[in-house]
Amino acid sequence: MDEIKRIAELRALLEYHNRRYYIDNSPEIGDIEFDHLMHELERLEQLHPECYDPNSPTCRVGADLSNEFEQVKHEYPMLSLGNTYSREELFEFDARVHKQLGLGQSVEYVCELKYDGTSISLIYDEGALRRAVTRGDGVKGDDVTANVRTINTVPLKLHGDFPDRFEIRGEILMPFAVFDRLNAEREEAGEQLFANPRNAAAGTLKLQSSAEVAKRNLDCYLYYMPGRVDGITTHYDSLVAASKWGLNVAKNYKLCSSIEEVWSFIELWDIKRSELPVPIDGVVIKVNSYAQQDQLGYTAKSPRWAIAYKFKAEQANTKLLSITYQVGRTGSVTPVANLEPVRLAGTTVKRASLHNADVIESLGIHDGDWVYVEKGGEIIPKIVGVDLSRREPGANPIKFITKCPECGTALVREEGEANHYCPNEMCPPRVLGRIEHFVSRKAMNIDGMGSEIIELLLSSGKISNVADIYTLPERRDELVGLEKIVYVEEPAEHVEVSLANMFDVVSSEPRLVPKKLFSLQKRSVDNLIKAIEKSKQAGLSALIHGLGIRHIGESASKDLARNFNTIEALQSATIEELLNIEGIGKQMAESICSYFANSENIAMIDLMKSCGVVTTCTESKTSDKLSGMTFVITGTLSTNRDHFKKLILAAGGKVSDSVSAKTTYLLAGENAGSKLSKAQKLGITILDEASFMNMLSE
Ligand code: IVH
Repeated sequence: MDEIKRIAELRALLEYHNRRYYIDNSPEIGDIEFDHLMHELERLEQLHPECYDPNSPTCRVGADLSNEFEQVKHEYPMLSLGNTYSREELFEFDARVHKQLGLGQSVEYVCELKYDGTSISLIYDEGALRRAVTRGDGVKGDDVTANVRTINTVPLKLHGDFPDRFEIRGEILMPFAVFDRLNAEREEAGEQLFANPRNAAAGTLKLQSSAEVAKRNLDCYLYYMPGRVDGITTHYDSLVAASKWGLNVAKNYKLCSSIEEVWSFIELWDIKRSELPVPIDGVVIKVNSYAQQDQLGYTAKSPRWAIAYKFKAEQANTKLLSITYQVGRTGSVTPVANLEPVRLAGTTVKRASLHNADVIESLGIHDGDWVYVEKGGEIIPKIVGVDLSRREPGANPIKFITKCPECGTALVREEGEANHYCPNEMCPPRVLGRIEHFVSRKAMNIDGMGSEIIELLLSSGKISNVADIYTLPERRDELVGLEKIVYVEEPAEHVEVSLANMFDVVSSEPRLVPKKLFSLQKRSVDNLIKAIEKSKQAGLSALIHGLGIRHIGESASKDLARNFNTIEALQSATIEELLNIEGIGKQMAESICSYFANSENIAMIDLMKSCGVVTTCTESKTSDKLSGMTFVITGTLSTNRDHFKKLILAAGGKVSDSVSAKTTYLLAGENAGSKLSKAQKLGITILDEASFMNMLSE
């Protein structure tokens, strides 16, 4: 593949996974896979300096900022660490250190456990905890002092001979035992589970209620002082001193005088880690002497005097009990293995993902097989192999189901696709998915209509499609008091078998008993109705986007709304008319026509119209100055690109993502890269910000 294209693809991919990890606390890939993608991007960016972008994932450390906390700038940036995965890479690190220091120097290393939680910076002032700040984007983080104060292992007052003011960093962790309990409670309450103790710790730290944080029993281990304290000249001594002041310094650190000794420490802890009450994912190796640390210095992202060694994922062996097939919101069917519970990396594993039919086939998995499971960063671990020596004679290979487990429709698998799909548009998870998309922020933005409420409205028959939402304000009374009931298993009764009662009828099977989860209160119904009423004004582009027409995303919806102005005009557009619009290709045009050819879709739109949903373009067009012109925006401008995009759209212009012969102008900011060179090649007029603004105001 074209390397430039791959750079763009990797940036988007890493940005997405960064968000899943730092903001959503719900990672989809493991650290090793993430690092692998990051290394590939670093390598390609080195080969293509013209693609420099200060916003590339390689230039930042990842962000976990959330809006609710005050943001504070770190006195010293919170960097990350370089990673190694093998003895060989570790020895290369040692060789680099020796080379940079001058070959004659001897080097001592401090080995520490690499705690797998969320990092924290603590400021102590006159012996009292002043501030606790998360890493955030490495430059500034969230002030979570109130929450950190609830952690018992963070001293609020120091003792002994502590410095006036200093910063110490460490890791906030959720012990396995707490994690297991928390997830069990969440499972029972029907809430989303935390993927791992790290996400649970990060999520807990960002809770609004410190009281709630206190209940979760977080722990905090400290391991690094970024500033210097008079009289302390090594990292090791700084840890010893911090312990003396009463700080909870991470245990099990060791001073080593050779890299061989470091390797022995790693080998030891690779085995012993399963005995720890908190998760670790490797060992951190730091040059001990401050003088040597200063000499080695830093790269943009990490110190040259420290490195992390990451352990390989732990494996466990267990028996396959059955396979459940889950139908996703797009209709895709995912097989999930139910396993005999087994301990793995500190938690109990009961399920593992099998992804799709190809994975089942390539594993060659049979009924009742003993399988190897491994944890990445995901909630559900993976099956990575089968123990053939324990296969029962006569066991049958697993056969993928042919009918949808939710609605019974025959499944389809399109040419070249790995997944099976349920093609039934009315299959319950698909209906739910469509409604969730319709109410989402970038579509009709119906605040307060979360998945639980949608499920409740669907299961109680109050709605069956997106249009029905607009009939709810008329039926307010039906909603108040609506209850969500789940059926939970009640454990089997324990029966003492004696002659006296052996003929009594006592159920020994687990029973399903109803449990009320929540009911809709007057206030939430009022708020929901307000949000529904407000969403009627969302406008045509939000509506088109919300309909979830295949291949039509947010930006295509805007183009369609601006070009057709009314839903009726779009409904009756021909393929040719659609293809005339910049940004609308054949696949999109066909998809739009087939959507509106379906009479059920037309009926839904008619119902929405009759309920007062605005179906015309409300985007404020201030002029036609840029009408017929297509812009591409690139480089760093004085403010974000969205601002300029809005200006262009408001003046009747169009904005496209890629430079082509159809581009009228390239609006280029600083450090523009490949788009600039392509535009130059094609002879397209390049505008800087000032000339663009002139053009608008002329
Ligand atoms: S030292 C400048 N020591 O790992 C060096 N970090 O991948 C600062 N971590 O952001 C970090 N255990 O959250 C250090 N013993 C340890 C650690 C540790 C876990 C985390 C920390 C850091 C990340 C880097």
